[in-house]
Amino acid sequence: MQRRLVIPEFTAHRIQALRPRIQQIVDERIDALLADDGTADLVKELAAPVPSLLFCEMLGADPADIDYFRRYSEVTMNRESTQEDVATLYAEMDGFLGRLITEKEKDPGDDLLSRLAAKNREEGAGLDLADLVSIARLLVVAGFDTTANMIGLGTLVLLQNPEAAGELRADPSLTRKAVDELLRFLSIADSATVRVATADIEVGDITIRAGEGVIASNGAANWDSTVFENPHVFDIHRDARNHLAFSYGAHQCLGANLARVQLEIVFETLLARIPTLRLAVPVEELSFMHGGHIYGLHELPVAW
Ligand code: HEM
Repeated sequence: MQRRLVIPEFTAHRIQALRPRIQQIVDERIDALLADDGTADLVKELAAPVPSLLFCEMLGADPADIDYFRRYSEVTMNRESTQEDVATLYAEMDGFLGRLITEKEKDPGDDLLSRLAAKNREEGAGLDLADLVSIARLLVVAGFDTTANMIGLGTLVLLQNPEAAGELRADPSLTRKAVDELLRFLSIADSATVRVATADIEVGDITIRAGEGVIASNGAANWDSTVFENPHVFDIHRDARNHLAFSYGAHQCLGANLARVQLEIVFETLLARIPTLRLAVPVEELSFMHGGHIYGLHELPVAW
């Protein structure tokens, strides 16, 4: 990806400016959740919609187009979806993003895709429409389910650790630290760091040869007991800032600031607004996503 073209969209400064709008989206989703009669699926009502609503606006799509983004999460997070459903979805999404970028080239607005198209032209980056679509698609693929799954699983961890949840409710300034600990503890994208060695390299007592594939599990690094004492314990007071849940190096997650801010706002607001939140089914009945690139929950039935 032409990473440098979109880096300015994800700086801490730009993401901080989105805080009020993120708070508004989260509040509206929690209002909708509370309008249910005492039970709801938190994945459907909160975890999936927050990143898609926000991203729809960041890309400069019309609010009426939210269905494309909603459908994306619905298909990718649904355990019944087939390979065919996903292929159809990707084709639909590419068509939609292509039309949107063409519109932004003709009639730019104050949004990510307009700025991307303008930069491409002004800096002579030479990207054609298909290249721009693939950048936009990567942002959707990388940004939606990751954040949604962290909201779902993170909520579950907080419900299972009522003492920590109580501390966070009493002192919301701890939330930032707790989010890093959740990212470390859950390591939901632990096999995302896929590489091919370009030269022979020694790692410990192993030689990896040029051309060999490597999956550097960030989950293993985040649960390394020589770095994090008792790594299997969820501890909101530990300093987990140096976790590798967003990977490391040249391809480190571009959306880390955006993910962190969304998670902080969601958990802080959820704990404050629904102090009686609890699981509506025994944890053994929850359906977890296994075998994909990202770890998550299909549904999270809650009551209050
Ligand atoms: C909690 C949520 C998230 C987690 C755990 C996460 C994790 C990761 C990981 C592990 C990588 C792989 C990096 C590598 O190959 O070394 C990655 C890449 C990436 N992420 Fe995220 N991510 C999250 C949210 C987001 C968001 C909100 C966006 C923004 C749209 C985003 C955009 C990207 C992009 C564009 C890449 C590819 C970067 C590149 O190849 O240069 N991610 N992410």
